[in-house]
Amino acid sequence: MKFLKDFYRFKNDFEKISMLTAYDYPSAKQAEAAGIDIVLVGDSLGMTVLGYDDTVSVTLDDMIHHGKAVRRGAPDTFIVVDMPFGAVARDTNVAIERAVKLYQATHANALKVEGAHTSDFIKGCQEIGIPIVGHLGLTPQSVGLTGFKVQGQSEATRRKLIDEAKRMEDDGAVMLVLEAVPQDVAAFITEQLRIPVIGIGAEPDTDGQVLVYHDVLNYGVDFKPKFVKRYSDFSNGVEALRQYHEDVKHKAFPEPQHSFKARMEEGERERYDNMY
Ligand code: KIV
Repeated sequence: MKFLKDFYRFKNDFEKISMLTAYDYPSAKQAEAAGIDIVLVGDSLGMTVLGYDDTVSVTLDDMIHHGKAVRRGAPDTFIVVDMPFGAVARDTNVAIERAVKLYQATHANALKVEGAHTSDFIKGCQEIGIPIVGHLGLTPQSVGLTGFKVQGQSEATRRKLIDEAKRMEDDGAVMLVLEAVPQDVAAFITEQLRIPVIGIGAEPDTDGQVLVYHDVLNYGVDFKPKFVKRYSDFSNGVEALRQYHEDVKHKAFPEPQHSFKARMEEGERERYDNMY
């Protein structure tokens, strides 16, 4: 398992960090087998596996449920679990209680929070020993306000973003995810911070990259954001399932090799006929 100190070393050595989302046991197993540095149990699971339109409907219990499955699938990988929408309440003690619950239940290595309003929460978590990854730029939990748009388009918003990133580091965040941010702004923030900065739609100068499992594999997704690269195509699974359906209908499945050998002795079948 790689730890935070390894990711800090990667940053200093200009070795890129790979992060991938996973939401269940098989995707986590694949991520670990592929050698991915960090697995993120993102609240994007609301869209990728639960079928919501956004991440806002995802609950703390959802994150616990999926986080536990991912830990079982990737026991030797650094795992970050998202605090879902609304979990970082205005009452910091309540928010920290939720973080403790999520951290303990999932055995995550760190939790991730979106937005600049999380300052007191990050400080509080640092005090009690929960590593926090910040998430700035496009923060999907706030799409009701911002829409799914590239952030930092004006000088004022770029300045705000840089200030927020620096404050997150000062508050004690151990890593930062920057989403949908112009490349030069992401590069500047990456240079300014000591903590690793992971980009999504902020390429290529951040310390690492994160992508969503279902986007990478074209698995059940209807839309491909500009920053996504597809490495495989699981959409042809539908064809395989159609074939299975047809095989059952046409008695082409199961074949002899899929069945267990006959075991009844002579006369046994007839005895059953009389009994039942
Ligand atoms: O929830 C998620 O998958 C994320 C990534 C897009 C960074 O936050």
